[in-house]
Amino acid sequence: MSFLQSQQKCIVIFALVCCFAVLLALIFSAVDFWGEDEETEEECPRNCSIVLVENIPADMLFSDNSTFHLPLSMGLNFLLDKAQEDVEIVSPQWFLGPSDYESSFYPAARQGKDLLSKLQELKNKRIQLKISTGEFDSAELKALEDYHDAKVHKVNMTALTKGQLHSSFWVVDRKHFYIGSASMDWRSLATKKELGVVVYDCKPLALDLHKVFNLYWGLQYKTFVPTFWSKRLFPFFNKDKPGNLVINRTTLQTYISSSPAAFIPKDRSSDLEAISSVISGASHFIYISVIDYLPLLRMESYWSRIDGLLREALILRSVHVRLLISCWEETNPLTFNFIWSLKSLCMEKANCSLEAKFFGLQRDGGLGGMNHNRFMVTDKAIYIGNLDWVGEEFGNNAGAGLVISHPANVTDRNFTVVEQLRAVFERDWFSHYAVPLQANKTPVCTRQHVDVSVFSKASHAPYGAQPGRTGQDDNGPAPLRNRHKADGPTLDRTTPHEDGLRKMSSQSLTNEQVPEEERAGIKAKDLADERARVKNWKQSISEDPPGRWAESSGFREMANGSL
Ligand SMILES: *[C@@H]1O[C@H](CO)[C@@H](O)[C@H](O)[C@H]1NC(C)=O
Ligand SMILES: *[C@@H]1O[C@H](CO)[C@@H](O)[C@H](O)[C@H]1NC(C)=O
Ligand SMILES: *[C@@H]1O[C@H](CO)[C@@H](O)[C@H](O)[C@H]1NC(C)=O
Ligand SMILES: *[C@@H]1O[C@H](CO)[C@@H](O)[C@H](O)[C@H]1NC(C)=O
Ligand SMILES: *[C@@H]1O[C@H](CO)[C@@H](O)[C@H](O)[C@H]1NC(C)=O
Ligand SMILES: *[C@@H]1O[C@H](CO)[C@@H](O)[C@H](O)[C@H]1NC(C)=O
Ligand SMILES: *[C@@H]1O[C@H](CO)[C@@H](O)[C@H](O)[C@H]1NC(C)=O
Repeated sequence: MSFLQSQQKCIVIFALVCCFAVLLALIFSAVDFWGEDEETEEECPRNCSIVLVENIPADMLFSDNSTFHLPLSMGLNFLLDKAQEDVEIVSPQWFLGPSDYESSFYPAARQGKDLLSKLQELKNKRIQLKISTGEFDSAELKALEDYHDAKVHKVNMTALTKGQLHSSFWVVDRKHFYIGSASMDWRSLATKKELGVVVYDCKPLALDLHKVFNLYWGLQYKTFVPTFWSKRLFPFFNKDKPGNLVINRTTLQTYISSSPAAFIPKDRSSDLEAISSVISGASHFIYISVIDYLPLLRMESYWSRIDGLLREALILRSVHVRLLISCWEETNPLTFNFIWSLKSLCMEKANCSLEAKFFGLQRDGGLGGMNHNRFMVTDKAIYIGNLDWVGEEFGNNAGAGLVISHPANVTDRNFTVVEQLRAVFERDWFSHYAVPLQANKTPVCTRQHVDVSVFSKASHAPYGAQPGRTGQDDNGPAPLRNRHKADGPTLDRTTPHEDGLRKMSSQSLTNEQVPEEERAGIKAKDLADERARVKNWKQSISEDPPGRWAESSGFREMANGSL
């Protein structure tokens, strides 16, 4: 009897313990971010400093010398010099080491290699390098992990949100940080035009960004987004409660935003909310510099979140809006329709001004000079983000942004980062690389879509061909945003005629060489499909080093074909 009783007791206790363990496991799997030092915003020094960092391609010349800022590679190197404990990096791409051929072609490519060796040396200084990435097969990351003690956490964005990890920032010692448009790609330090900020000694803000990093860190191996987020991931600041921080001796209001909505713990403002509040707060001007501007959601429906706010600013508040959009292989032709639509809003209306320019028209058939900037500056605030202004970007892809605004009565406007960024925008805007949208004339960046010889062959290209999308069963719009996927290691081997290939391919892209009869063969309804296909193919090569040109067999075919 007593034996039976105690046995029952045992079973009950065992069951309870089991329940408890399962509960604990559940809590841990949902929250997942324990065991870190609790840190608070209180311990904040009041002397943050901020520096704009830029990469200007060597062959891009501006007449105004006054508005140049710290080169990006130097900014990142300074950050590494400051590091004492840990360096956290998230980047859409990892491709710092150029091949010998690429280095010989672009001397500035060496900066990527130098940065990589500096990251490798962190091990010797006993500084922990932590990397969150959406890339599962980067050789560079594997080497960092295997030989240089870096900790790499992989986030399967496909499983989590069917999106991609486009976030690009560094956090150093939870005290300093970088955020901006550049990837850990040698081209970001050499051939692309990039812009970002480095902020020093700014613990509260750096901690907020570190929390975004920590969220990615905890998503390793996850195949679903947790329902609960740990309190540790809640931000200190958001758009309703920005941090009042002394930055360069001026009190500014600031916070970090992030995307997508699924990755937003309580109280964090989303990138869209940040953009909306910056646009709504502007009273005189809004200057926007982005790669792509397309108020469409998956090419299916109009996406009004940003477009609507701009219309409101133009019509109801008479704010002067300038849009500087990159002109490149992937510029969607519909962009021009939407810009025209915005422009026509202002017709016959006093004090309504929308101007649009397209940056980086292809010079000499070359692909250099790509403007990769993603920022907005108004009379009150700046927003520097990681995402393009295209509907689906904000829905699925991970990104982060920084908002800094200054009070209206700020005494020395000229020395605020807002004013400096405005100067950068104006330098680009008035440069000869920015070309206004003209009536009845579509900029050349989109004309290449009619190049038949390219798509028929290109659909077989290894990079262009999406799994399961071959030929005419192409029943959906092209995934616009997957260009980061296209990255892999380049081949070191070079062929003697690569240089020629590169030149030729550039020409083919600008469509100058395509005979008229070939263009005429396309019907309008086929155009969208083929555009989608060629886009897939092009996005894999467009931002790529010369080495890649030869790598793509599709390109080889194309080259032979047009010979
Ligand atoms: C900011 O203040 C801290 C502590 O007072 C000091 O260690 C640090 O050097 C200062 N940074 C700058 C840029 O002045
Ligand atoms: C800008 O700098 C370049 C080279 O550094 C120089 O040749 C040019 O004269 C400068 N332009 C102005 C307006 O100072
Ligand atoms: C990511 O998740 C998707 C969907 O669950 C899966 O098909 C894919 O294999 C995963 N990728 C990797 C590299 O694990
Ligand atoms: C346009 O702006 C000017 C100067 O700011 C102002 O005087 C004028 O009344 C405005 N016109 C309209 C129609 O708002
Ligand atoms: C600016 O305005 C704020 C309130 O809006 C006030 O607290 C602050 O003292 C003002 N600063 C100056 C320099 O006037
Ligand atoms: C501020 O900048 C403007 C033009 O950018 C200039 O005209 C003005 O003199 C500058 N003010 C000061 C105090 O430097
Ligand atoms: C802020 O201060 C740093 C260091 O003193 C300086 O290099 C930087 O240009 C300043 N930034 C701005 C926006 O004035």
